[in-house]
Amino acid sequence: GTIGTTPVYIGAAQFAAWKHTQLILDVVEGRGGMFSLDNGTGRRFLVRSRAYGEREIAMLHKADRLRAMQASIDSDTDAFWLAEAHRLDWSVFPTKADESSFGKADFGIRWFADGELNVSVNCLDRHLETRGDQPAIVFEGDEPGEGRTLTYRELHGEVCRFANVLKANGIGKGDRVILYMPMVPEAAIAMLACARIGAVHSVVFGGFSPDSLADRIADCGATLVVTADEGTRGGKRIPLKANVDSALERASGVDTVIVMQRTGGQVSMREGRDIWWEDACADVSGQCPPEAMNAEDPLFILYTSGSTGKPKGVLHTTGGYLLWSTLTYDLLFGPEEGRDVADDLFWCTADVGWITGHTYVVYGPLSNGARTVMFDGVPNYPDPGRLWETSQRLGVTIFYTAPTAIRALMRHGDRWVLQHDLSSIRLLGTVGEPINHEAWEWYHDIVGRGECPIVDTWWQTETGGALIAPVPGATETKPGSATLPLPGVHPELVDGEGHLLTGATEGNLVLTRSWPGQMRTIFGDHDRFFQTYFSTFPGTYFTGDGARRDEDGYYWITGRVDDVINVSGHRMGTAEVENALDEHVLVAEAAVVGMPHDIKGQGIHAFVTLKAGAEGSDALRQELRDLVRSEIGPFATPDVIQFAPDLPKTRSGKIMRRVLRKIAEGQPDQIGDTSTLADPAIVESLIEGARV
Ligand code: WTA
Repeated sequence: GTIGTTPVYIGAAQFAAWKHTQLILDVVEGRGGMFSLDNGTGRRFLVRSRAYGEREIAMLHKADRLRAMQASIDSDTDAFWLAEAHRLDWSVFPTKADESSFGKADFGIRWFADGELNVSVNCLDRHLETRGDQPAIVFEGDEPGEGRTLTYRELHGEVCRFANVLKANGIGKGDRVILYMPMVPEAAIAMLACARIGAVHSVVFGGFSPDSLADRIADCGATLVVTADEGTRGGKRIPLKANVDSALERASGVDTVIVMQRTGGQVSMREGRDIWWEDACADVSGQCPPEAMNAEDPLFILYTSGSTGKPKGVLHTTGGYLLWSTLTYDLLFGPEEGRDVADDLFWCTADVGWITGHTYVVYGPLSNGARTVMFDGVPNYPDPGRLWETSQRLGVTIFYTAPTAIRALMRHGDRWVLQHDLSSIRLLGTVGEPINHEAWEWYHDIVGRGECPIVDTWWQTETGGALIAPVPGATETKPGSATLPLPGVHPELVDGEGHLLTGATEGNLVLTRSWPGQMRTIFGDHDRFFQTYFSTFPGTYFTGDGARRDEDGYYWITGRVDDVINVSGHRMGTAEVENALDEHVLVAEAAVVGMPHDIKGQGIHAFVTLKAGAEGSDALRQELRDLVRSEIGPFATPDVIQFAPDLPKTRSGKIMRRVLRKIAEGQPDQIGDTSTLADPAIVESLIEGARV
């Protein structure tokens, strides 16, 4: 072959991955010596590689690599993405990268569309030779020290076995499987088993009620549900199987329920429908050939909340999603040059029921060959030192959590942290909501000993992985800012009319170009996908978030500008809570808005008008709270229920939420113009009512 003129720039993890997958066949010559750095930028090798023939490879420090990535992405975007695609093992390597369009006429999101690969092969098989006996999943249960470790080889065997079980129960490519599970290795096993045979998983968070579960089962047309007898969280038991039973009284179409034994609690098993995980897996082969999937074949559906009452089935596909999880995990949490990914123990505290658990507990870490912690407990059980005691005991090096957890623990004082040795931790991350200055400082100074960088990652269920975040070692951080876009991410701020804003300013956050990890559709409703995200500011993807951009180009996310609220990092639509309240016979109408909450970030303030003759009382408040718990789940319980004689409406009958938000925020003086209200007098009575 010929020697390329421009070197290919890669980092340590990618170099290791390429060596493992034999992409690099041979190191022909090491330039500048194996251990000395070439003018401070890294090491250069002349390699013979499958992708490039004989070619120079420069291994760079993250800062230089990031710069090199930005430069090459700008000069030839498609070539850049096809080079990045080499992070994955493909059975058919793609020839095309981005074929997406945000415009109405040729709307669609497509990446690597002629490539073929299997996600489970990338997360498991390709590591077996080099990392087979290395821990893949480190499981920590609800009780401290209750746990086990699965190596890549063990995980591979379990996944193949469960894939065979799914097949034996009639599940094949494209079929939908609901997972309603605790945070146990079996949840990851079931996800990867689906991926192995091309089935589409939809994980439903274990905190959702039977009604919410039934809605999701029905919406995606699932035929099989995987669950556990019970979950345990903070010493309490959650009746998962019983919830599935009641969900299936409402939703039809499910003919198999596979039940994993978690607590050994009593459950009823329906003959002909319900089978035990352990029984099903006995005498099943630990080999299962992977299904070759097109890059654009669905990988999973994950329901999330929007402005309307009906949750959206966010659909992610195989190639783009996996590449984005793999790349962003490496950039944000991967090793620096000279270290291996398995030198780290990565702990993302998110539940697999949310996108963060998909991307940064399961797919991103495993695709990179990392060691990932799965935690089935809560931060304050048995005491507020739990996360730190566990970090010390397991030797966690990278810790990634939500601001709400940080705020909750901060309140208990420093001693819970300081009594543990956290010197193994080298990097901290946050996700899910804006982090306030005080929490950032505490996280940095107390948990991070004033030494660990904080990676504040802004992203969404829809984006597949982080989009705006600092690359440690490369991006200088500012407390409270998610900093700068990752390579290939093109954020802009627009005003209410969609006009592009430049320089330091504040506005609606949009993305002007696609990236591989972008969602592809709302399951079963492609038109709603376009309407929801691409019609507000035509030609762009609208995030629903507001943001400020400072003079250094740094982004500061200010929060949702639509009717979505973020309670303890749990995203929900105000309309969902309203629909639940409306179910009560005495409720005439309900309007729900977010309110500031010290720990949860946002709390839920519900304004409720009752039918004629009904009286508001504490007993009714409790009934309404219980109703929301049973309709949605405990995390959606309103903090404040204010009985209101009427709601502020325009003359055309539209509720003016802006007014309600200001009242809930305790800032009635900022309500502004109310002259368009049908009955401006109502505002005074609501302000009065909020005081009591
Ligand atoms: C918010 C979670 C500020 C934001 C991955 C977004 C954030 C919504 C951050 C998505 C952050 C997420 N700083 N706000 N670092 N990360 N958000 O779909 O409002 O559960 O739109 O995805 O969380 O929530 P979701």
